[in-house]
Amino acid sequence: MTTPSDFNRYLETRRAEIDAALEAVLPVPPACPPPIAEAMRYSLFAGGKRLRPILTLAAAEAVVQSGHTDPHSRDTGMALAMTAACAVELIHTYSLVHDDLPDMDDDDLRRGRPTAHVVYGAGVAILSGDALLTQAFVALARCLSDEPSEFERRRLRAIARIAEAAGAAGMVGGQVLDLAATGTGPGGEAARRRKGSEETDLREMHERKTGALIGAAAVTGAILAGGDEAAVEAIDRYAMHLGLAFQIVDDILDVEGSAAELGKTAGKDAAAGKPTYPSVHGLDRSKVLATEAVGSAREALASVGLGGRLNEIAEWVVSRSH
Ligand code: IPE
Ligand code: IPE
Ligand code: MG
Ligand code: MG
Ligand code: MG
Repeated sequence: MTTPSDFNRYLETRRAEIDAALEAVLPVPPACPPPIAEAMRYSLFAGGKRLRPILTLAAAEAVVQSGHTDPHSRDTGMALAMTAACAVELIHTYSLVHDDLPDMDDDDLRRGRPTAHVVYGAGVAILSGDALLTQAFVALARCLSDEPSEFERRRLRAIARIAEAAGAAGMVGGQVLDLAATGTGPGGEAARRRKGSEETDLREMHERKTGALIGAAAVTGAILAGGDEAAVEAIDRYAMHLGLAFQIVDDILDVEGSAAELGKTAGKDAAAGKPTYPSVHGLDRSKVLATEAVGSAREALASVGLGGRLNEIAEWVVSRSH
């Protein structure tokens, strides 16, 4: 049994390790022009929670600790998990920079700072997002210095999973549904007229725009640490439920939180007329649905005897205040 402070220490330790690894994968001048290096760093080191990379590392640890993996390859597996952890955080940060642009959510506060386009202009902000996304795949494609060749298959599988999650079938697709539902993107009119399928559409939008990358974050940790198929499949189900819960809570915090707590503007969803869990289901029902999704996430883990930090992360996702 661990205490909340023990879990907080775990999170702090992991954040420090992840930040050090991110420093090492970022391009620095003269390899790239100084302005792009500066804009990438500005958004990346602005105090994000690092949920996704922590999830990657925790999933890798969970399969290692439960004996779902080959003991001879643990160190390489954990080192590769850190590479995937960095990649998902780079992609997540790019998604925030683009999400905040004037033609998307038009936000001027992120991670407690003015958004990238406010500081650098939309052009450099867009390019810094492009560069963060691309750098994720630079990091993933690089072999470790002493990487045994049999790890290539795991690495390729992880690259494919992260690319799918980030692209049109995942996060980008979800962001397009978000624009359409707000009436500012293609199909906006049609989306507004299809009232009957509102709940299903909302769930799909959340699963794509947020769930897909959270899923890839966890699953690639399990894959790279050498988890067997039962463990990978269970972590996939866990993360699918967790990703939905995470976005439901994000919607709730937009209603109940403050800019000071969130580090981003509160009340934006209602002001923009966005369909969210609170707007469609009401606040109380949204809280029940988030708790139920976390319960399903925990059940998926328990079905194969996994747990540990992944259970604590699930609790954190619903209890968080930012
Ligand atoms: C915000 O994600 C964007 C969503 C997908 C809801 P986080 O709440 O994880 O943001 P950071 O990384 O902590 O800033
Ligand atoms: C963001 O959803 C999903 C992304 C893929 C970035 P939101 O638009 O609700 O995220 P916040 O509230 O701006 O962080
Ligand atoms: Mg958005
Ligand atoms: Mg937004
Ligand atoms: Mg939000």
